[in-house]
Amino acid sequence: MRVVVSDSHEAMSERAAAEFAAAVAANPTATVMPATGNTPMEMYGNLSRLRREDGIDFSKLRIFQLDAYRGISPDDYRSLYRWMMTTLVTPLGIPQEQVVRLAGDAADPDRECAVFADLVRDAGGLDITILGLGPNGHLGFNEPPSPVDAPTRRVPLTPESMVSNAVYWGGEQNVPTEALTAGMDLLLAARAIYLVVSGERKREILARTIDGPVTPDNPASFLQQAANVTIFTDRAAWGDRPLP
Ligand code: GLP
Repeated sequence: MRVVVSDSHEAMSERAAAEFAAAVAANPTATVMPATGNTPMEMYGNLSRLRREDGIDFSKLRIFQLDAYRGISPDDYRSLYRWMMTTLVTPLGIPQEQVVRLAGDAADPDRECAVFADLVRDAGGLDITILGLGPNGHLGFNEPPSPVDAPTRRVPLTPESMVSNAVYWGGEQNVPTEALTAGMDLLLAARAIYLVVSGERKREILARTIDGPVTPDNPASFLQQAANVTIFTDRAAWGDRPLP
């Protein structure tokens, strides 16, 4: 695990964007699975700027959706598909045909998950995942407990995730109770894994992710055993520990 600690959220977002852009320059047709959530938004803003100002070409990337609320249509303003499209895919000039949606509103969610996982495998797996860290250690919606080989599947959201996502839904009572998520098996097999973590409220789970026991009770702890992991974080999340 490589850990890059920046002084601020802004600096972290710039650093992560610069490294991602360099990876894309080296592999313009990379397969990418990007998280939504608040943490990577400024990173994505920086990518748009790099496209505009430095002419970096992101348009050949193939994008796979990380997670989706169950039963929410792609047009719903709260859908993670739409969030990904408006903050990353469209600003980077990636054609919609190069996006594989994880359809939270599929009539048969189990089949949808199996088909989606096959599409990732058919594409040769993931080159890069950009992940955020749930306060309970979830990656995507791989809620604890999630074993290392948890497949792409339908999951009930934990009470903790319902609370942390309430802000997007105008109250905990409105948060969908289920989600679909790309499996731990796909995420951990990515050839490069970026984890972006910022703010004091992630301090404890970040410490457990890096140094704690490797356990399904903290799915992110499996990153300790994965290849090519870079954690981009800021001082607020890192705390007073000695710098890596
Ligand atoms: C959400 C999503 C994840 C996201 C994580 C962290 O529930 N399912 O994909 O990465 O939680 O979100 P945030 O960056 O807003 O803290």
